[in-house]
Amino acid sequence: MDSSSALPLYNILHAMSIRKFFIFIFFILPKGNIFGQNPLPIPSLINGPEYNLTLQNGILEFFPGMPTSTMGANGDILGPTLLLKAGETVTMNVQNNLGEPSTIHWHGMHVPAANDGGPHTVIESGTTWSPKFEVLDKAGTYWYHPHLHMKTAEQVTKGLAGFIIIQDNEESALALPRTYGVDDIPLVIQSRAFDLNKQFIATTALDNTILVNGAIDPFVEVPAQVIRLRILNGSTERVYRIGLEDDHPFSLIGTDGGLLQSPVELTRLNLAPGERIEILIDLAGLENSSLFLKSYASELPSGTYGAVNPSIMPMGSIQGYSSNVLNGQDFEILKLDIIQANNNAVLQIPMTLVDDQPLVTSQANITRSLTFQAAQMNMNTMLNGPFVINGSSFNLQTINYSIPIDNVEIWELTNMTAIAHPFHIHDVQFYILDINGVPPPEYLAGRKDVVLVPPGNGIVRFITQFSDFSDPDVPYMYHCHMLSHEDAGMMGQFLVTGGVTSIQREQNYQVQLFPNPATDHLTVFLPNNDHNQWTLTNALGQVLEQPSFQLIDNNTVQINLRGLHSGTYWLEITTERGHPLTKKCFQVLSNELIK
Ligand code: C2O
Ligand code: CU
Ligand code: CU
Repeated sequence: MDSSSALPLYNILHAMSIRKFFIFIFFILPKGNIFGQNPLPIPSLINGPEYNLTLQNGILEFFPGMPTSTMGANGDILGPTLLLKAGETVTMNVQNNLGEPSTIHWHGMHVPAANDGGPHTVIESGTTWSPKFEVLDKAGTYWYHPHLHMKTAEQVTKGLAGFIIIQDNEESALALPRTYGVDDIPLVIQSRAFDLNKQFIATTALDNTILVNGAIDPFVEVPAQVIRLRILNGSTERVYRIGLEDDHPFSLIGTDGGLLQSPVELTRLNLAPGERIEILIDLAGLENSSLFLKSYASELPSGTYGAVNPSIMPMGSIQGYSSNVLNGQDFEILKLDIIQANNNAVLQIPMTLVDDQPLVTSQANITRSLTFQAAQMNMNTMLNGPFVINGSSFNLQTINYSIPIDNVEIWELTNMTAIAHPFHIHDVQFYILDINGVPPPEYLAGRKDVVLVPPGNGIVRFITQFSDFSDPDVPYMYHCHMLSHEDAGMMGQFLVTGGVTSIQREQNYQVQLFPNPATDHLTVFLPNNDHNQWTLTNALGQVLEQPSFQLIDNNTVQINLRGLHSGTYWLEITTERGHPLTKKCFQVLSNELIK
């Protein structure tokens, strides 16, 4: 379906029944043959170590004579691509000239919480925010976008987003296409809704126009050799089923957090909001022809935004969804016009890429369970929200988790709603352990920061480690990357706490409690127990004043449990300065006769 011809139809839709509308598009309009009218804009590339971004309002004419208000960084829409080198220390100067507050978040990057640009780090209009951090990430495709609480969808929809390309030695050693804009091309795919005055509408199911790098119906000239596309789904809600015309194969080389161990040859791949892929396409011998990059949305399963039915249930709908011509229909995204190969052509897809060892289950210290539900469960809200995580909506003042630094954790995500949600977490990259109990396919086995959690009690488990940065005050976010869901409260936050020395961290794993369950005494073994603080709490979190701690020797402490009721208790050990060392649970079986 050609989206430029689809647009005016939105106006016509008001004057026509749905049935007449479909007859109209199938029989009157030309199909496919006018796609590819506009040259694909390639965002400018800027180098560090100092990067200047000015957030500004703009105006663009997507439709002749009908100016649309936009937002961009250093321009009317989107922003420059930031080229970063691993190991460098960079400074980002973000000047906000929007006339309203904003934030800028470095999606996918591992930076201290105070530099992460979440909703707590507001850049007031007329001010500049200048975080400085070391690039610790692997070579890959990341991005930046605003993250102001309840305003994210609006500011991203208006155009604020940009690419971050990170390079490192491992990637540079590979024979991969990397001539920016020539054989290495960034593509941000964004579906947009326009109102009758051709202004963007932020949260709606009328997103029937596809923009690629800010252009409608784009084409790009590419050489007849191996090319690399870095594709970002920057849409608010829509999932794409990426493929090439005629099932032309492509090789997936990277996902959210960098390169895979080896390329995976595919003809289709689902891409949810926030996700990135890097693919190689071999175009040798195809000069003077063209090839479409498409979304095969007719193949998306029910319960996915973009499928025929966005719900897994037969009933219930999203307002405006079924009249949107993109839903459940295959459509073109970009026309590749293939020209002559150039002089430094990459002619082969490498056999192997980088060494990357996923974390394994046995390394985990804890499993956390997060359940997605509608705030109230009924046919309509299970599809439209507002959605909550573990029963609560996002609150800027509430810290949902405190995570000890260096913890290796399994997060188990259960989606009890009728629609798939792309879950995203800041600070870390993770490895998917399983989706509905099944280990991930090869193309989802690499480093990820977004995962689409299937609807109808779908369960995804991932494993990650929270290393390097702790901050007692500034949290990191986790949320649904459907920005309408995020803004409506489907988000939470965690602190990474501690910052203990490696010696103390080792002790954490050596703490032993016995016997467990205990009756009158609990013995705690903790090597080098100098200057630590001990707290006992009951299951309600109340601190117990009574128990006496008796030092047996430098490594052993005995706690008198007499007088405690049967139940679960927690022993928390912190350092002198209050950094958590360990929190352990034990059972008391009280012998009521001993008092
Ligand atoms: Cu791309 Cu918290 O976001
Ligand atoms: Cu992020
Ligand atoms: Cu969601």
